[in-house]
Amino acid sequence: LNYNVNRERRFILQILFNGLRRLEYRGYDSAGVSIDHNQPLVFRQEGNIESLVKSVYQEADAMGLDLEESFCVHAGIAHTRWATHGEPAPRNSHPQTSGDGNEFLVVHNGVITNYQVLKETLIRHGFTFESETDTEVIPKLAKFVFDKANEGEGSHTVTFSEVVLEVMRHLEGAYALIFKSLHYPNELIACKRGSPLLLGVKELNEEFNSGPTFHDSKFLSNNDHPKELFLSSDAHAIVEHTKKVLVIEDGEVVHLKDGNVSILKFDNDKGRHGGSLSRPASVQRALSVLEMEVEQINKGNYEHYMQKEIHEQPESLKTTMRGRLIRGGSCKAKTVLLGGLKDHFKTIRRSRRIVFIGCGTSYNAALAARPILEELSGVPVTMEIASDLLDRQGPIYREDTAVFVSQSGETADTLNALEYALENGALCVGITNTVGSAIARRTHCGVHINAGAEIGVASTKAYTSQIVVMAMLALAIGGDAISSQTRREAIIDGLFDLPNKVREVLKLDQEMKDLAKLLIAEQSLLVFGRGYNYATALEGALKVKEVALMHSEGMLAGEMKHGPLALVDENLTIIVIATRDSCFSKQQSVIQQLHARKGRLIVMCSKGDAVSACPGGFGRVIEVPQVEDCLQPVINIVPLQLLAYHLTVLRGYNVDQPRNLAKSVTTQ
Ligand code: G6P
Repeated sequence: LNYNVNRERRFILQILFNGLRRLEYRGYDSAGVSIDHNQPLVFRQEGNIESLVKSVYQEADAMGLDLEESFCVHAGIAHTRWATHGEPAPRNSHPQTSGDGNEFLVVHNGVITNYQVLKETLIRHGFTFESETDTEVIPKLAKFVFDKANEGEGSHTVTFSEVVLEVMRHLEGAYALIFKSLHYPNELIACKRGSPLLLGVKELNEEFNSGPTFHDSKFLSNNDHPKELFLSSDAHAIVEHTKKVLVIEDGEVVHLKDGNVSILKFDNDKGRHGGSLSRPASVQRALSVLEMEVEQINKGNYEHYMQKEIHEQPESLKTTMRGRLIRGGSCKAKTVLLGGLKDHFKTIRRSRRIVFIGCGTSYNAALAARPILEELSGVPVTMEIASDLLDRQGPIYREDTAVFVSQSGETADTLNALEYALENGALCVGITNTVGSAIARRTHCGVHINAGAEIGVASTKAYTSQIVVMAMLALAIGGDAISSQTRREAIIDGLFDLPNKVREVLKLDQEMKDLAKLLIAEQSLLVFGRGYNYATALEGALKVKEVALMHSEGMLAGEMKHGPLALVDENLTIIVIATRDSCFSKQQSVIQQLHARKGRLIVMCSKGDAVSACPGGFGRVIEVPQVEDCLQPVINIVPLQLLAYHLTVLRGYNVDQPRNLAKSVTTQ
């Protein structure tokens, strides 16, 4: 955060704290902040943001400082952490420092892969390290570079940007960094490679803010335009101040001073391979406007984000489909329009195969859509978990279409798999919820799911929107083949009606809460599904394990006899998904066998179908509205999301910030 000096300033700490609260969903095991008070002050604390806030005021009191009076301060940095290298502890929190005196301070999102080598070199030059983080090498390297440049000189001549450019030249891995320094008061430098970084620009001139267009960046370095500047890993911390943003690109070094901005471009290849950086080019960039409302990132009347996002699904699905489904009109045709792919359908149809790549819930969404993609596209469809594809360096060919599914568009494994597929020459398609994200920008083409901001760490509404987008993708790839016309039209009708059906299934909320009360003390929960609902079993179990911290496994019902049956006795609770589709009779048989082994059954079946699904009334039944088979996973996951939510609340765990997890995993 950097303010224009000539303007009345707001209290910078509050703005930094609020920004951290907005980013807390990305990591919440420790946090830190640095502002100036004659010289840089650093506060770091284990735990959530509120623990940091408390400790800042306590420490300031102990030092006899009145922080509220720090209006001379106009550059500050803050960080909330999800531990990768080093346990959550103040010494491992950011800002990391160059040592006593806080000459250089750094906040970092990402991972520095060559930090061991750098650390050993710096130790040889007399530096001592206090943390186990990879980040600590960065401020120490900055001090090393600064001291070297000023050797033998009375006052320093090297600029802050030059120091950072030199530091970048030695860093390998992924990072978004903000630097602050005792030697450059009121200045901040940000740079990035691989990890996301946004600059928000709030013009303090009414005229500017209401102006409809805003085309070039000349004003950025113009003193006549007083402004407040915000740097953040994502838009959530910026949108309440301004919607005007610049998406910082890899290799760019952004210098903020007195409310002005200048950007230098670091030469990528030279940077990686240690070339000269003596003449980095200055860059002119245009701003873009965030399509995000502050209300979207508030909880509204709900207790938790996860709860809000589950109940939002009728609306988020509508937004996902808006303008993309066509029914009626003069030709009465029912069809799908996916503008972002229109020039690529020919290539996709001619592909040797379509391979879906993702992690976690996004992978499960692709798995849910796989059967309909296979049925309508006529192209073989395979699935890859991004990390596994990379571990195996699995085959990806020029003739493949590789589809990258990611809510955040920033997941490191998925992004690395994308780079791998690009290198192998595949057509790369992105399905993300984040406009301007790395995956959205690196893929050749794609579809935004438009589900709106998702803040709960456990993905819910993004999952259902992803399935709907992939069902639309299947329809669009299938084209207008006569043989599948009736089927296609039934799916399109089903899509139109889906938000209503989701509204109906959400009425099971109380029933799921009651079920959660019964299951609260369970040790373990199995979920069996097959066909369209194999993914529902995986995703339902993932929700329960992620947030309710209960052991839970999703299983392919067809594999029951090949191992899982051994676990079944009167103490094991099993959810079986047996809604009506072509697998129904096989699921009836699974239910009978589990019953014979005395398993405690909960059967999810289509409305009015309890007697066929669970003859004799053994077991508990969850009845859900029936929809077109390929859309049924969208309905069936909702009661399981509700169950996971209520189980978590009843068990007293944090719904939106589950232990050890983060929303966007930007490190490998
Ligand atoms: C993390 C999140 C999951 C998410 C996965 C993939 O593990 O906690 O909720 O499904 O990353 O994230 P993406 O943003 O790529 O969909």
